[in-house]
Amino acid sequence: MNQINSILFVCLGNICRSPLAEAITRNMATKYSLDIKCDSAGTGSWHVGEAPCENSQIVAKNNNLDISNYSARQVTKDDFEQFDIIIGLDKSNIDNLIKMGCKDPILLGSFGYNDQDVPDPYFFDGFEGFDKVYIMIEDCISKIFEEKILN
Ligand code: 4NP
Repeated sequence: MNQINSILFVCLGNICRSPLAEAITRNMATKYSLDIKCDSAGTGSWHVGEAPCENSQIVAKNNNLDISNYSARQVTKDDFEQFDIIIGLDKSNIDNLIKMGCKDPILLGSFGYNDQDVPDPYFFDGFEGFDKVYIMIEDCISKIFEEKILN
């Protein structure tokens, strides 16, 4: 069994989806008293240094998670050495990671969601849809814990 000690979640902007994945994973690790290094990053640089988008902060808060102090960063090649697994939120993130030289990024939707992409809520009209995105991310991460961490 490969012990997973660190996870990086990667989306496009690191302001909507991957911060939620990071927070959910941190919370789950705490719940199981596990010391897992967890971070998130974006393939793009547009939002570096920004806090998560307002609707992600709201859906996090509705689920008792505080992501207001998170700060977006861009993924680096160094990350590929630093993390045991690198999870892309959609297939374009996976393609971009592979182009950067990441050898084996894994699609989040491969954990129980038939390889579906986590839809990009940046382009949603208003809050509607953020709840669904949150549930999908949480379900997939539960599956990661079941299959890769708690086994
Ligand atoms: P995220 O959403 O990848 O879930 O953080 C996006 C945020 C910003 C942009 C695209 C997606 N953007 O084009 O600026």
